[in-house]
Amino acid sequence: MQEKTKAKILDGKLVANKVRDGLKVRVEAILSQRLRTPGLAVVLVGDNPASQIYVKNKIQACKKVGIESFLVQFPADVPQDDVLASIAKLNRSEAVDGILVQLPLPKHLATDVVLDSVDPDKDVDGLHPLNLGYLAAGRQGLRPCTPQGVMVLLEHYNIQVNGAAAVVIGRSNLVGKPLSLMLLEKHATVTICHSRSQNLEEIARCADILVVAAGRECMVKQSWVKPGATVVDVGIHKRVVPGVFGAGESEIVGDVDFQEVASVASFITPVPGGVGPMTIAMLLSNTVYAYEQRAASK
Ligand code: GUN
Repeated sequence: MQEKTKAKILDGKLVANKVRDGLKVRVEAILSQRLRTPGLAVVLVGDNPASQIYVKNKIQACKKVGIESFLVQFPADVPQDDVLASIAKLNRSEAVDGILVQLPLPKHLATDVVLDSVDPDKDVDGLHPLNLGYLAAGRQGLRPCTPQGVMVLLEHYNIQVNGAAAVVIGRSNLVGKPLSLMLLEKHATVTICHSRSQNLEEIARCADILVVAAGRECMVKQSWVKPGATVVDVGIHKRVVPGVFGAGESEIVGDVDFQEVASVASFITPVPGGVGPMTIAMLLSNTVYAYEQRAASK
């Protein structure tokens, strides 16, 4: 028998819609005063199917709030200099406020070199070392979208971060590291764990707020979670489940075993519909912010 869900759902779709509504109003105000529409350029290299879906979703989301999008696509074997030349052109373009390089890049490209070439004022992914440095110093700047989305979600549901024991599983530049800094900024006691951490389950069980960005399907089980904790699942995996007649159907799951964990946690994000929509909402928010900052500096 399936265990009953007890936890309240942290509804990323709902909160992302609310964020988008606010952005739409800001974009409308911009358009009523000025001539230029905020613009986001997305650089996509190669044909990774997941990246193609993410990029399509980002471009669709831009349309919904009135942001113009520019897709720059390259074949998987593009020389690095061509990518850098294209980014240099986007850096100079008046019509472009935000530049996002979809990750992962093919192995022959140096991700650091490519990300470093983005103008920090247009770095809507918040991955330029200058912006990551601002974050580490607790200063204003463009911040990575997924961790920012997690923070907005926690805030929306009034989850107390101040003084809470927060455990982050995962130490990527995209999620784990920046999120740990954001939780610290809001006065959580932060523990960062990763694949080599010992006693992972034991550490996770101490968390008031447990964020899982480990990239391992259904890794976190009920025994890993303190009763009453808030659990945020950043993972996304497509898995094939056997159909009734043997045909495989696919479903999307996270890093957390939702059925098990929802019976002990107080709050939990679903996958899909949790962190994913928030990431896109923060990308749009960063683009409008970058536009406003550029307009203010002219
Ligand atoms: N690939 C997976 N997530 C992300 C993200 O947030 N930004 C970029 N640029 N690439 C990604």
